Amino acid sequence: MVQMINALTPIDAARAELAAAYDLRFTPAIRTATDSVYERVKDRIPEVEWPFFAPLVFAINRLKKEKDAIILAHNYQTPQIYHGVADVTGDSLQLAIEATRVSQSVIVQCGVHFMAETSKILNPDKTVLIPDSRAGCSLAASISPEDVLAMRAQYPGAPVVTYVNTSAAVKAVSDVCCTSSNALDIVEKVEGSQVIMIPDQYLARNTAKKTKKKIVTWAGACEVHETFTAADIAELRSAYPGARIIAHPECPPEVIAAVDFSGSTAGMIDWVKTERPARVVMVTECSMSDNVALETEGVEFLRGCNLCPHMKRINLENILWSLHTMTEEVTVAEEHIAPARAAIEKMIALSRKGD
Ligand code: 13P
Ligand code: SF4
Repeated sequence: MVQMINALTPIDAARAELAAAYDLRFTPAIRTATDSVYERVKDRIPEVEWPFFAPLVFAINRLKKEKDAIILAHNYQTPQIYHGVADVTGDSLQLAIEATRVSQSVIVQCGVHFMAETSKILNPDKTVLIPDSRAGCSLAASISPEDVLAMRAQYPGAPVVTYVNTSAAVKAVSDVCCTSSNALDIVEKVEGSQVIMIPDQYLARNTAKKTKKKIVTWAGACEVHETFTAADIAELRSAYPGARIIAHPECPPEVIAAVDFSGSTAGMIDWVKTERPARVVMVTECSMSDNVALETEGVEFLRGCNLCPHMKRINLENILWSLHTMTEEVTVAEEHIAPARAAIEKMIALSRKGD
């Protein structure tokens, strides 16, 4: 005799709880209430998918007001998050700066864990939530505080410039942070002719090409960007003649040398909006071009991207669950907050100085 197993998985149970608490059907009222959002995303989200997203978008936007929450979303989040529920979007630097200005008592970070930690470090008295705490980063996972201390011992006196894609514990043993949008500026502004720049070997090598300072680095890499090669760029050029190709500085130097522009995610967006090329390939995470395409008429966006599995852990369902249950709360060890904050605030101050 076949025995029927009727137990709900945790995901099914969470879905059932959400369906009981919120009307997640695509009713005429929900259609009308979310029409303006669909207008913004319709070129990237097929009409057949909208009945699934719309009730979640509606419920999240209502719940975030009830819970006094703000949603900070990175440029790599999907269009339904970026254009549907985010209050603030941006690159790592913009999100860090915005985190110092929020008035709401709850921050929902739609991005990866180090970004949520940064928000918590800058707002220790606020509740910071991440919809899936497994959203990590290969760069952040590549280095420990002990590794940094060993480098300090090896290069005495050299300032430690740490990419924000690191844990709070690593930031806490650093002198100053940087992001991909201000890396060169920070390296130029710290004292000394030798700089320890960690953990992204490619960001460090790409920065080293633009400065006279000697840069020592770590063997970390972004699993999304390190796989692009100069041969990929050559293939894109022959597949899409005349298209402009731009890339993130986490790509290897031979890729950066072969493209038309390199910049942070926000830098790439600004470049497209200013240059307005007829056709462009963004060599970075795939959601970027979807998000920019929706705001940039007249530019054709061609594919040459990879997906970040960590960024893609965040979705509308777990954002709603996060607000509904006020989980998963991000905490940072007390002893890391002040030194990590000093490194982040020094970066923000140096980025502004002399602008
Ligand atoms: P940006 O600071 O350019 O947004 O980059 C963050 C990131 O994780 C890129 O992979
Ligand atoms: Fe980390 Fe790369 Fe994903 Fe950015 S794209 S979060 S650097 S793994």
